[in-house]
Amino acid sequence: MSAETPFPPRKDLLTISDLSREEVTHILDTAVPFKDLFKRSVKKVPTLRGKTVLNLFYEPSTRTRSSFEIAAKRLSADVTNFTVSTSSVVKGESILDTIDTLQAMQVDYMIVRHSASGVPEYIARHTKSSVINAGDGHHAHPTQALLDAFTLREIQPQTDGTRIVICGDILHSRVARSFFDIMHLLGLDIAVFGPPTLVPDTVPDYVTHLHSFDELLEWNPPFVYLLRLQLERQQANFFPSMREYHRVYGVTTERFKILRERGVYIMHPGPVNRGVELADDVMSYERSLINTQVENGIAARMAVLYHLTPQVKQRQQEGEVSL
Ligand code: CP
Repeated sequence: MSAETPFPPRKDLLTISDLSREEVTHILDTAVPFKDLFKRSVKKVPTLRGKTVLNLFYEPSTRTRSSFEIAAKRLSADVTNFTVSTSSVVKGESILDTIDTLQAMQVDYMIVRHSASGVPEYIARHTKSSVINAGDGHHAHPTQALLDAFTLREIQPQTDGTRIVICGDILHSRVARSFFDIMHLLGLDIAVFGPPTLVPDTVPDYVTHLHSFDELLEWNPPFVYLLRLQLERQQANFFPSMREYHRVYGVTTERFKILRERGVYIMHPGPVNRGVELADDVMSYERSLINTQVENGIAARMAVLYHLTPQVKQRQQEGEVSL
């Protein structure tokens, strides 16, 4: 594949709001042939041979970190995982000193996750490497949004006017912020359903508010996107108990029967709190897209790495990164 794109070379991917609909569509279209590769016995292409990708995760991750690692390896890049707990960060090294050190090793891409909003952007301003935001605080998770949109488009290629409801803990969710940006950009009709204490005033004006499961059924979306209850980020009691949350806002076994009868697709970014956002049986539902989202994450992240290659090559031509 040629790395030529109709867009100015982009150094970093920090938020969906930096992108136009055309650029998002271009990245999603690029992910399609990358997913086709997965059916082959050799799942690799030489696109990023000789490039180095560094996973810089200051927060735990299962899906995003391993997905970036596999994506980079399928593009033939060399991958290094920086583990904060065994690094000099625990001796008090600052973020910028860590970045300077890693920059000196001529890393081409830094994949950054941090509990504080804005850290990937801060690093991007400081380094010549391409930085991809792998989730920062409550702020953004752009590659999650891309893989979600990719998954939805596989089922519903015409996204304009398609309804999707996002349920649960919007307040603490970087996934939700990037979700609103990308789904709006692609012309979807978006609603939220969750405890009033977890649906902030900052939800964009174009989003419909649903106040009960009956209202959700009446709105009749073909896609229901469940968010994880982010217990580790909650400083207060936002609802009486987990059982109460599941009863009022979760996909209980009873509600699942109704959604299944209607053929509704269920999405979730993971990790899932079983028995909280959803009942166990939802996980094995034929229209649960949760594992497809994970699989598509690799293709979407391959497309993102690929999308940034013109900038990486430009830096190399200018002698800023050694060949
Ligand atoms: N969806 C997601 O970001 O999962 P991880 O925290 O496991 O990366």
